[in-house]
Amino acid sequence: MANDKKNTHFPMLDSNTSHLHPLKALTKRITEAYGPSGYEQTVRELIRAEIENYADEIRVDALGNLIARKKGTGATPRKKVMLAAHMDEIGVIVTHIDEKGFARFAPIGGVFPLTLFGQRCRFANGVIGVFGREVKNSSTSEVTLNKLFIDVGATSKDDAPIQVGDPAGFWRDFADLGKRIVAKAMDDRIGCVVLIEVMRELKKSPHDVYFVFTVQEEVGLRGATTSAYGVQPDLAIAVDVTGTGDTPEANPMAVQLGKGPAIKVKDAGMLAHPAVKNLLAETARAEKIPYQFEVLTGGTTDAMAMQTTREGVPAGCLSIPTRYIHTPSEMIDFDDLQNAIKLLVAVLNKPFKLD
Ligand code: CO
Ligand code: ZN
Repeated sequence: MANDKKNTHFPMLDSNTSHLHPLKALTKRITEAYGPSGYEQTVRELIRAEIENYADEIRVDALGNLIARKKGTGATPRKKVMLAAHMDEIGVIVTHIDEKGFARFAPIGGVFPLTLFGQRCRFANGVIGVFGREVKNSSTSEVTLNKLFIDVGATSKDDAPIQVGDPAGFWRDFADLGKRIVAKAMDDRIGCVVLIEVMRELKKSPHDVYFVFTVQEEVGLRGATTSAYGVQPDLAIAVDVTGTGDTPEANPMAVQLGKGPAIKVKDAGMLAHPAVKNLLAETARAEKIPYQFEVLTGGTTDAMAMQTTREGVPAGCLSIPTRYIHTPSEMIDFDDLQNAIKLLVAVLNKPFKLD
């Protein structure tokens, strides 16, 4: 749990979102919430409040996954569709605090040292830390996590407002750039936003749809592993972010911002079931929704865990193209977000055959 030391340093948030598009305002609220892997409580409560009126049943399993079922209108037995988006974000956890109050840390999930120096993190109690580095012992070109430390403004170990074992997420507020939006933890709060909106807009699905907001994806798909076992779906789709190849001198990748949600074909952990991939692509074509195919060479999603649960489940993934993944400033295209929601609603509104 978070530490019990008194905190007087709450960050100032621009909580006025009245000037934002409602979907951007929702994205701001959900992305700015604190929630490194294993500490998703705040995010879970925020999401629960958003979906309560749209679910027929809501439960939280032993690991903390939020599972909301929306009953279908079709004849029984109805097919069960599981949508998954992960609530957790990458972060750091305090391993040691020295006499001067500087903290050392271990990563939670895939944290790149290059992205940290001069950035900020935020602890559960609101304390803000700055990432500093050992200047003598590291060059800017090859900084490693063990040459970095967190400075919470303490003057000694005794007045440090944090303790060993405290987790922190990156801290950065949401920015509306117009067509593009930027936030920390777009991975995968933007997937959570998609699920919330699909749930609100879905009125006449023939299927029982399970909207699962998973925990601990960034440390090994752990929430999806247990929740998929529990739900036992007939079709499973993860909604998560994927990389792009559209920035200067990027690694070659066909996915670009603004060209539509990306239908996963393959990533480092799974091959999407061809029938699920086709279901998504054919629906997009029929509804005239732009889309692109995604082959990602590094990383995977909750779809990998859902696909291999029990005796296997046809699974796929709809990805939101994202620049600067696993940094405090992950950027997406607002049209891609809206088109992802449209596509999933269209897919869920009709019967499917997966052969
Ligand atoms: Co991630
Ligand atoms: Zn993710």
